[in-house]
Amino acid sequence: MRADAWGVIYLDCNATTPILPEVLEAMLPWLKDGYGNPSGSHALGRRARGAIDVAREQVAGLIGAKPDEVVFTSGGTESVNTALHCFDRLAGSGRAVVSAIEHSAVLRTVESLEREVWLAPVGADGVLDLERFEAGLAGAAFVSVMTANNETGVLQPVAEVARLGRERGLAVHTDAVQAAGKVAIDVRETGVDTLSLSAHKFHGPKGVGALFVRKGLRFEPLLRGGGQERGLRSGTENTAGIVGMGAAAEAARKFLADGGGGRIAEMRDAFEKRVMASLSGVVANGDPAKRLPNTSHLSFDGCDSAGLLVLLDDAGVACSAGSACMAGKSKPSHVQLAMGIPGKRARSSLRVSFSRLNTLAEAEEAAGLVVRAVEKLRSVQGPGVGPVVVYTS
Ligand SMILES: Cc1ncc(COP(=O)(O)O)c(C=O)c1O
Repeated sequence: MRADAWGVIYLDCNATTPILPEVLEAMLPWLKDGYGNPSGSHALGRRARGAIDVAREQVAGLIGAKPDEVVFTSGGTESVNTALHCFDRLAGSGRAVVSAIEHSAVLRTVESLEREVWLAPVGADGVLDLERFEAGLAGAAFVSVMTANNETGVLQPVAEVARLGRERGLAVHTDAVQAAGKVAIDVRETGVDTLSLSAHKFHGPKGVGALFVRKGLRFEPLLRGGGQERGLRSGTENTAGIVGMGAAAEAARKFLADGGGGRIAEMRDAFEKRVMASLSGVVANGDPAKRLPNTSHLSFDGCDSAGLLVLLDDAGVACSAGSACMAGKSKPSHVQLAMGIPGKRARSSLRVSFSRLNTLAEAEEAAGLVVRAVEKLRSVQGPGVGPVVVYTS
């Protein structure tokens, strides 16, 4: 029995997630009759404004923020760009300090700035090396370290990062796009200045995100214009998208409070257990404990990722090599390079990412199909890794 409407076993939930039925329900009225401009001073406008205010409270509730610390954007990429460009404009001289395993939204943005960038290293476990990070803060202008990595799922010590940054008067951003809805986030506990979110990673719609901006933080908008979002992000609000993000945030908050993370980990662990018990030459990448409950990142001796993906796609399993954001790149990802994963092992890895919409039966079935695909590939490819490689970040 497969839960997905397409009849596939969808295990690419770090790339994107299906919209929850209640999220779609919440959005529909705002796509149909709720067309008023939220800035309008008539009843239609006021209604849309009211719906956005509710969504702001719901998103704030997911991350322990106050509603007026939430700025809606067009997605994770815009949130990250807004935070980092703001830091860049307001900081004095010095380097941008970001972890070596950041998503391209962070890496390409800091590379575009006219300042030096220092990539803080991670260990073989994929966790930021805090000692070297701290040493590297001398001469820093601002900091960005992700909450959880999109490829490996490894969780980063963001609270310590924020504390070290704060002690030096540095602004600190975290890209929490992958963590939100999968693990609890509390901006007060972590102490970051800004935090990026994207709705489609937690069963909301695509093209809408949010940036947490700590109250009192000096801020410069990236997008200027009509002064929406209290002047922090201009542009007519995407009412339906924002309402959908709010509903998804509320659903995620309840799901996590109800122990949902543990249920997802159960599926992921059952999948890994079955794969590991049936095959030799399998390595799990990244810290086995400090990781998102939904993510499995495995390397298979004697297989190439592209071949595996093709066989799994044929078998009706959707998953990914690394992450889907830059599919088609034929080299180990920068995340794997930063972790020191040898080339062959890096090129033979698979990222399998679950969500609340999967079932234990799907996890078991997918494990069996992965085992069959690996055996098939090994029988034709022998011990070496084939020439076809798809790599992603
Ligand atoms: C860690 C991380 N940051 C940022 C993004 C970009 O988010 P969006 O696609 O919503 O712009 C992604 C998307 O994969 C991501 O995984």
